[in-house]
Amino acid sequence: MSEKNAVKLLHIDTSIKATGSLSREMSAAAVERLKREAPDIAVHYRDLAAHPLGDITGRVFAAHAKGADVSDFDPAERSDLAESGRVLEEFMASDVIVIGVGFYNFSVPSSLKAWLDRILVAGKTFSYTASGVVGLAGGKRVIVLLARGGLYGEGSPNARHEHAETYLTSIFSVIGVENLEVIVADGVDISPELRAAAVERAMGSIEALAA
Ligand SMILES: Cc1cc2nc3c(=O)[nH]c(=O)nc-3n(C[C@H](O)[C@H](O)[C@H](O)COP(=O)(O)O)c2cc1C
Repeated sequence: MSEKNAVKLLHIDTSIKATGSLSREMSAAAVERLKREAPDIAVHYRDLAAHPLGDITGRVFAAHAKGADVSDFDPAERSDLAESGRVLEEFMASDVIVIGVGFYNFSVPSSLKAWLDRILVAGKTFSYTASGVVGLAGGKRVIVLLARGGLYGEGSPNARHEHAETYLTSIFSVIGVENLEVIVADGVDISPELRAAAVERAMGSIEALAA
């Protein structure tokens, strides 16, 4: 396959831990797994914890999403607008997106929310129609590697507090990704034994990922 036609993979990490992060370990393993089947896959990496986007402001959002006037923007706003544009372009250009996610306070890291605020753009990744919202990014494959300290699986007493897998499934469906692939390591901070078993299961699922 020529470089031009190579599958483009966007690898994103969000854990605030520079070392010892399980979601980083899992996302790296998933990328390696996919690369093994398709060695010429083109990987672009973005670390949202090391290079946070920050909360998007109303003015930057209006310019990013609707092309509003930027003539009175200060340098910080211009820089954020340019970076927001790069983030959206990177996503649009990718065929596969692999996201490492740490489960923080029942949900996703705020850096990932800030990234999503740049990706969910009407007219680009979804559109409003008379019959409701239609996703425009349905051709993409999105794989989430989620590490949760406690146990939040279906049927567990904490399941009602799970707002990461459920949130990401909802938000990606808005842009047309209906079959989000989520691999979870659950209960990893409860005991070394539970962690080892959860990691082994997750790594098995990563190994079993379709090419
Ligand atoms: C800021 C923060 C918030 C957390 N909140 C929760 C939580 O609400 N529930 C839970 O079970 N674990 C929680 N944890 C534990 C993480 O889910 C767990 O350590 C997981 O491995 C994080 O992924 P990471 O190692 O890639 O950062 C939290 C950890 C941090 C650092």
